[in-house]
Amino acid sequence: MIEPQTDLPDEEHLFRLLRQLDAAPEASQRATAEALGISLGGLNAQLRAATRAGLVRIAEKNSTDRRQRAAYLLTPRGAAEKARLVTRFLARKFDEYNALHAELTGMPSRLSPPGNRTLPIMQSHLAPVPELYVSYDSAQKLKLEAADLPSWDLTPRQTCDLELLMNGGFAPLKGFLGREDYESVVETMRLADGTLWPMPITLDVSQAFADSVEPGQDIALRDAEGVILAILSISDKWSPDKPREAAKVFGADDLAHPAVNYLHHVAGPVYLGGAITGIQPPVHYDFRARRDTPNELRAYFRKLGWRRVVAFQTRNPLHRAHQELTFRAAREAQANLLIHPVVGMTKPGDVDHFTRVRCYEAVLDKYPAATTHMSLLNLAMRMAGPREAVWHGIIRRNHGCTHFIVGRDHAGPGKNSQGKDFYGPYDAQELFKQHEAEIGLEMVDFKHMVYVQEKAQYYPANEVPEGDTILDISGTELRRRLREGLEIPEWFSFPEVVQELRRTSPPRSKQGFTVFFTGLSGSGKSTIANAIMVKLMEMGGRPVTLLDGDVVRKHLSSELGFSKEHRDINIRRIGYVASEITKNGGIAICAPIAPYMATRRAVREMVEAYGAFVEVHVATSIEECERRDRKGLYKLAREGKIKEFTGISDPYEAPTAAELVVDTEGTEVDYCAQQVLLKLEQMGLVAG
Ligand code: PPS
Repeated sequence: MIEPQTDLPDEEHLFRLLRQLDAAPEASQRATAEALGISLGGLNAQLRAATRAGLVRIAEKNSTDRRQRAAYLLTPRGAAEKARLVTRFLARKFDEYNALHAELTGMPSRLSPPGNRTLPIMQSHLAPVPELYVSYDSAQKLKLEAADLPSWDLTPRQTCDLELLMNGGFAPLKGFLGREDYESVVETMRLADGTLWPMPITLDVSQAFADSVEPGQDIALRDAEGVILAILSISDKWSPDKPREAAKVFGADDLAHPAVNYLHHVAGPVYLGGAITGIQPPVHYDFRARRDTPNELRAYFRKLGWRRVVAFQTRNPLHRAHQELTFRAAREAQANLLIHPVVGMTKPGDVDHFTRVRCYEAVLDKYPAATTHMSLLNLAMRMAGPREAVWHGIIRRNHGCTHFIVGRDHAGPGKNSQGKDFYGPYDAQELFKQHEAEIGLEMVDFKHMVYVQEKAQYYPANEVPEGDTILDISGTELRRRLREGLEIPEWFSFPEVVQELRRTSPPRSKQGFTVFFTGLSGSGKSTIANAIMVKLMEMGGRPVTLLDGDVVRKHLSSELGFSKEHRDINIRRIGYVASEITKNGGIAICAPIAPYMATRRAVREMVEAYGAFVEVHVATSIEECERRDRKGLYKLAREGKIKEFTGISDPYEAPTAAELVVDTEGTEVDYCAQQVLLKLEQMGLVAG
């Protein structure tokens, strides 16, 4: 389906136009208009719109008559669109025929549905999907040769993408997108040849690495341990327009979208495109028996004689609503069920995949073993809602499935920076429906499932009997209950799942956290930090570590100075240690100057992956700090004997959204520490 273009003719007229141009591209405009039964002006308008939409291109033809010089040819996209419309018209006619047959005879017709839909699904679902791996012997040779090539260390997301490229999960892609395909995917959700492909799969690299390689060159792609996984034959190198990519692919250039944030803050500035030669898949040490390549799943379905398989995509633990939804989907599609959770990368803040897989395993007992299978998918999600749903469908088709469940707000990224949803709750279903035939599997769509108290049963929201009471617990509410150790009712989830979640998400007062003091030298950070450390140790329960500025510079960062670069390294080290302490259930108290906003934000992100981050701005004024001048450093800085001194000859970017601001001027240390403690109590981090 073509992106909505305001001036494109409706589907029926578009189909007639494409069919006519395909049959007689060289015909004069008058003849074409006559064949279509429309005016010359009308034809011109249609041709202009179709050309703009990339369905038709104008070619010169050898004619002496100036008015007859242009021929209108279908582009590959135009041809694909025509094929899609044919399939749709046939399907519609088939339905009409069936309805008429039933009306006249009282029986359904015995005709099988028109080709191109059911048939190819059945066939392609049985045949192996092409992989990008070379044979074992060639791989051994290539591995040796590749050792001399320039190499790129893949990021976690790139490793996930590469695995699915190599094992056929991203078929028909043959490598990371080249520029022409990239531009076309961003703009139209299609590769340059017209094939439906909604997500730019790109290899982003640093400027320095990009400068060292050129198109035409081969490079080795290595995993985090340095193992060579593949060779990329670079065909393209370019600097993408990231705001445009964000707006087109994710709907808005808004950093509240996790993939947009990734695009701007994590992804490198240059993309490399080109074909992949696969040497070996990335190694996984966890849940090996539960991971299947597309061809392994296809072989499994073949072996068990599963002809219709409905896939359920998830990044969350399964609760009772999900079970009901999957049961219903399998019944509706008369298909076997594949629970296909994503274990690559999901939305930041999601329950980690180790916990989730343990939860899935517990729930699996409640499914009939003979008809259900669970397999883990090492996909790096982008949370792109509608586009992502189409992408998920293609990936499941490649894994041998024939049906795919799309529920409410599929792959939704949450709220944008204005507090509104990025996508409508059923946008994904709509876009999927439009492309169903090309994706090559059928959507099983569901409304949001809710619990109906009177019936003690789950129903799709639109099927709830009138007047009955609906019970529902949102993801946010579930997290709150887990955080605060509150009850999670039996109707909502399974006891085994709740127990597993409670093990990994203890209430906040039992989790690790970080208190991060920031402020000028001599502002009183260390003094308050020391006081708060003692108070927390007095309370007991969790180990407390103080990472004071001076202490860190002695033990962790002794080789560093005070340039911007060195300060950033210093703060990131503190952030890393604090995040490890937080992850392991301890309390980290940090007290560096940390003068730069962006670095503090990076530390916050590192810590918040594991627990709370409480930023405390010790806002003592520069005048007061200089008046105190405890270490005599301000005097030396004024005399120019210390360079790049914060507040004197180097900037301090004050926080704008710290959890707490304390001012030490005219206030006792003990009172400042009390304020911090109250804040911690208010946030539920220490028991009141
Ligand atoms: S930073 O910017 O966060 O890396 O600084 P930090 O590691 O916290 O600094 C620790 C102490 O170094 C002393 N010092 C300086 N501070 C700022 N600018 C310059 N040029 C400088 N040179 C030395 C200063 O006493 C800091 O101590 P605190 O604990 O903040 O008083």
